[in-house]
Amino acid sequence: MTTRVRGARLVVEGGVVLSGSIGISGAKNHALAAMCAALLTDEDLILENVPDISDVESLGALLVSLGAEVDRLPNGSLRLNCSRVNMFEAPTDLISENRASFQVMGPLLGRHGYAASAPPGGDVIGQRPIDVHLSGFEAMGAVVTREGERYVTSAPQGLRGARVFMDYPSVSGTQNVMMAATLARGHTTIVNAATEPEVQELANLLNGMGARISGIGSQMLEVEGVEAVHGTNARVMPDRIETGTWAIAAVMTGGDVELNDVPTGCLDALLTKLRAAGADIEEHGNSLRVRRAGPIRAISFQALPYPGLATDLHAPMAALLTQANGVSIIHERVFDNRMLYVSELRKMGAEIVSTGSSAIVSGPTPLHGARVRALDVRAGAAVLLAALVATGTTIIDDVYHLDRGYERLTEKLRGLGVEVERN
Ligand code: UD1
Repeated sequence: MTTRVRGARLVVEGGVVLSGSIGISGAKNHALAAMCAALLTDEDLILENVPDISDVESLGALLVSLGAEVDRLPNGSLRLNCSRVNMFEAPTDLISENRASFQVMGPLLGRHGYAASAPPGGDVIGQRPIDVHLSGFEAMGAVVTREGERYVTSAPQGLRGARVFMDYPSVSGTQNVMMAATLARGHTTIVNAATEPEVQELANLLNGMGARISGIGSQMLEVEGVEAVHGTNARVMPDRIETGTWAIAAVMTGGDVELNDVPTGCLDALLTKLRAAGADIEEHGNSLRVRRAGPIRAISFQALPYPGLATDLHAPMAALLTQANGVSIIHERVFDNRMLYVSELRKMGAEIVSTGSSAIVSGPTPLHGARVRALDVRAGAAVLLAALVATGTTIIDDVYHLDRGYERLTEKLRGLGVEVERN
């Protein structure tokens, strides 16, 4: 396992052309939600392909603090058993580690009629309210109160099915409400549900555990409550954001990279935008060969809920567009503060200006090595990508942000020909 000390940094030599092949790891956001689903049953939930990233580690620690058993089996799968869970209040230090941790609330409330937690942590990428989660619980009959910094939710008689309107199609909000509704009495309709592939995969996992969810992939999810669910074995889908990050790296450096085990059927926005920017991408089953056909072209895009281009790829795409011929315009439509990467890329010579939730990138600009910070997981990916094409050495501080979402990062970089040290 990687050393995940807060002070760790990456030292990256620039001017590299990536070449070779790598495998894409399991999806962070599917794995985290799936781990929370274990709280719905006393039986073992075995998850294959769970990435070794710090968000998984911290959510695992949170589940253990509630009384769960969480261990890696010899074959690498994660085994979760929640039969001894007897704590329904998430410790604040662990809940603040990442955003996904708040998803313990729905299953705890649905199963035990009580759950309490401080607001979750996660990247500082704008206001990240949880009103959608809480109003969903209330619609199902829970009483939600605020005690100090904690939200306390209770439904001593159990939750009842309801029609729940999501004010925003929140990913973790939909997942939280869907898990709560799984064991509610009667039928729940979630209107304006998030349709992200990770939400769909959670619904499939829950059905594999005995839940009755339909409308999967649509904005109207139907959940017929069941008395109990059981354990199962499931495989975590490949990470579409990691796929995007490496594909962008290949295009940016003019390399030739094969990405194996990519998710299929959910990469339309990414592939369309990369091809528009000049990428040559061949799709063979669940592999992609990514090269560049000519100079990088300026493109404009909006970061949107799925199936639009993922907000998590906004910053990496912006790094790419510093090398494009012309002016690119980016509109962020999901989070109100995804622009942390701008100041860091500017330190490396990029010409980017941001106003509100938009950024204007002028290129191509030669980038130079600098001392920069990974300010959040995807802003960190953006500076890493920039470092690959910069002249000289780039030092990236606060690498723990990258550790939250990228498995075996230095190993994969080296496998593609990058000179990189972690110290
Ligand atoms: C998840 C992902 C994150 C990704 C994001 C958008 C996890 C652990 N994280 O985050 O990587 O970037 O989806 O695809 O799965 N909102 C509200 N009220 C709420 C909840 C959210 O207004 O109660 C708003 C947020 O302010 C934000 C937007 O909804 O503007 C998107 O947030 P949401 O979909 O909830 O993202 P997360 O689930 O936190």
